[in-house]
Amino acid sequence: MSDAIGRVALSSPVGEYLARMLQKHGAVRDGAVATYIPELAKAGPEWFGICIATVDGHVYEMGDSQQAFTIQSISKPFVYGLALEDCGRERVLATVGVEPSGDAFNSVSLAPDTGTPLNPMINAGAIAAASLVAGHSPGDRFERILTVLSLYAGRRLDLDEAVYRSERDTGHRNRAIGHMLRNFNVLKEDPEIALDLYFRQCSVRVSCRDLALMGATLANAGVNPLTGEVAVRSGHVESILSVMVTCGMYDYAGEWVYRIGLPAKSGVAGGILAILPGQLGIGVFSPRLDARGNSVRGVKVCEDLSRDMNLHFLSPSRVAAAVMRSRRSLATVRSKRRRSTAEARFLDERGHRVRIYEAQGALGFAAAEVIAREVSTHTGPDSFAILDLKRVADVDGAASHILFDLQRALRTAGTTLIYSNAQRLPRFMRYLAEASVQQAGLRLLTFPELDRALDWCESQLLSERPKGEGAGSVGLAGQQLCEGLSADDLAVLERFVTKESFAQGEFIFRMGAPSDCVYFLMSGEVSVVAEMPDGRLRRLSTSSAGMSFGETAMIDGGVRGADVVAETRVECWSLSRVVFEELENSYPALKIGLLRNALRVVSGIAGRLTGEVLALES
Ligand code: DON
Repeated sequence: MSDAIGRVALSSPVGEYLARMLQKHGAVRDGAVATYIPELAKAGPEWFGICIATVDGHVYEMGDSQQAFTIQSISKPFVYGLALEDCGRERVLATVGVEPSGDAFNSVSLAPDTGTPLNPMINAGAIAAASLVAGHSPGDRFERILTVLSLYAGRRLDLDEAVYRSERDTGHRNRAIGHMLRNFNVLKEDPEIALDLYFRQCSVRVSCRDLALMGATLANAGVNPLTGEVAVRSGHVESILSVMVTCGMYDYAGEWVYRIGLPAKSGVAGGILAILPGQLGIGVFSPRLDARGNSVRGVKVCEDLSRDMNLHFLSPSRVAAAVMRSRRSLATVRSKRRRSTAEARFLDERGHRVRIYEAQGALGFAAAEVIAREVSTHTGPDSFAILDLKRVADVDGAASHILFDLQRALRTAGTTLIYSNAQRLPRFMRYLAEASVQQAGLRLLTFPELDRALDWCESQLLSERPKGEGAGSVGLAGQQLCEGLSADDLAVLERFVTKESFAQGEFIFRMGAPSDCVYFLMSGEVSVVAEMPDGRLRRLSTSSAGMSFGETAMIDGGVRGADVVAETRVECWSLSRVVFEELENSYPALKIGLLRNALRVVSGIAGRLTGEVLALES
C-alpha cells in the first residue's frame, strides 16, 4: 500500500508476527466457553484477538482486538493496587496474604488460623481486597474502581449490566466465600456490599487492546503510556506484579512462570493479560477456556511470544547491558567554546584531570555499581568527573542512592562529580537535591548539556592560570586574524574597521543574511547557535576576546550559515567584505595576512568538528 507520495507503509515485523500467531492458533478448537455465569455463554467461541502495547505508547493489534468482553478476574490485580493505595501495605497484608494457594480460582483458600484469604488473585482474596476500597457509598466505591481501571486502559470503561446481573444472580459460591470471610471478620461489613463491588468489577467491559494498555501501564511504573496519566503510584507496582507472578494463574502459576515467565492474569471471559516490566503489556482474548479457566489460545500465544521474543523476565539477557557507553577525557573532548592557542595548550596539559563518562540504559543497582566502581577507580585530587546521562532512561532508588554516595566519596577524595543531561530524569534530580540539602558542603553540579559541563570544567582548570593571563579586552594587534601582521598593516586595518557594540542576548547576525563583514572581538563573548526542533537554541561554538567570527565574508561571501548571538555585552570591530576585497589592489600583503589567518581559524574549527563527529561515532 503506498501513500500520497508513493511511500510504501512497511508492515511492522511485530505486526506480522502477531498475524502469524493469529493464524497459527486460530485453528485451535480445544476448550470451551465459560457457562457457569450464564451471560458469558453468549460469547463467540471463535473470537480471537492479540495486542501488544509498549511503554513508549506503540500498539500492535491483530484480530478481534477491539471486541468487547468482561474483564472478570483480570480486574483483581488492579483493585488490589487500589486497596494498597487506600489502606497501605500493612493493612492490606493483614487482610489478604500473598501466598500462592495452588488451588483453583474459586476455592475457599483461607488461612486456617485467621481465615484470611491466601492471596488477592483467588476470588476470596479479591472479595476481601474489594472490601478495602474506600468511598462514601458502595456506588462511590465502584466509581473509584471504574475510574482506576479506566486510567490503566486510557479510556473511559463501562459496566456490562447483563453480565453483572447474571453473575450477581448466580454467584452463590462467591456468596458462600463472602460469608466465610464475614465469619472470620475479614470482611468488616455486610458481605453483600463487598460481593456486589466484586461482581461489578468483574463485569467491567474491556477489549484485548485495553488489556495490553493496562499491562503497559503497569510495565511503565503505573503511568499510562498513551495518556501519561498515573493509574497507580510506582511504589505499588512491584507488589501488584509480585502477586501476579506467584498467584495470577492460580494452580497453573508454577508452570506458567516456568514456560512463559511473565507476571500475568487470566479471566473466565477469555482474556489473558501478561506484562514484561519496563517494556510492554500483552493482551490476548479467546473465550475457549481450559480446565483451569485460562484461555487455551491465550496461553499458547503467550508461550510462543515469550519463547520467540525472549520475554521471560528471568532471562539472563536481561542483566544490565554495558552501562558505560563511553569514557573520555578533556584531552580528547572539549566544549564548544573556542579557546585561544594559549588556553588550548593549557587545557591539553591538564585535560587528563577531567574524565567524561557516558552512561546508558535504565540504571538500577547493578548498573550504578559498575559506574561507581569505574569512576572511583580513575579519579584523584583536584580532578573532575562528568557523568553524562543523555542516554539514560531512568535512575531508580537504589541507583540514586549509590550515585549520591559516590559523589560524597569522591568529594572526600578531592574529586568533583558533575552531572550533564540529568534534567531529563526529574525523579533522580529530586532525590539528589533532597539528599544534597542534608549533606553540608556537598554541591550538586548539573548542566543541561555535556558541552556546558565541559565548558565549566575548562574554566575551572583555566582559573588556575596566573592572574591577568587571558583576561580583559583585546586590541587589533592581539586578534587571531591579525597574527603576524606588521605594525603598518595594523595601522591600515585600523582605518578600515568599524567599531560596533551589541547588548547581551542581541543577535549580531542571523542565518541566511548576506555574509557582508567579518568581526574582530575586542571584549565579551559571542556564540554561534542553531535552533533545535523544540525551539531551544543549541550552542555550536563560543568565541571570546581576540577571536573572530563571520569569516565566510572573507572567503566566499554568500549567506550566513547560522545565527550569532552576544552571550555578554560585546565590543568588536567589523571589516566589510567590500573593503576587504579592495585591499587586494591597495594593500595585498594585508589581505593575504588576514586570509591566511582566517583559513587557519576555519581549519581549526573544522578540526574540532571532526573530533566531535568521531567522538559521536565512537
Ligand atoms: O468470580 C468469578 O467466578 C468470576 N467473576 C471471575 C473468575 C475468573 O475470571 C477466573 N479466572 N480465570
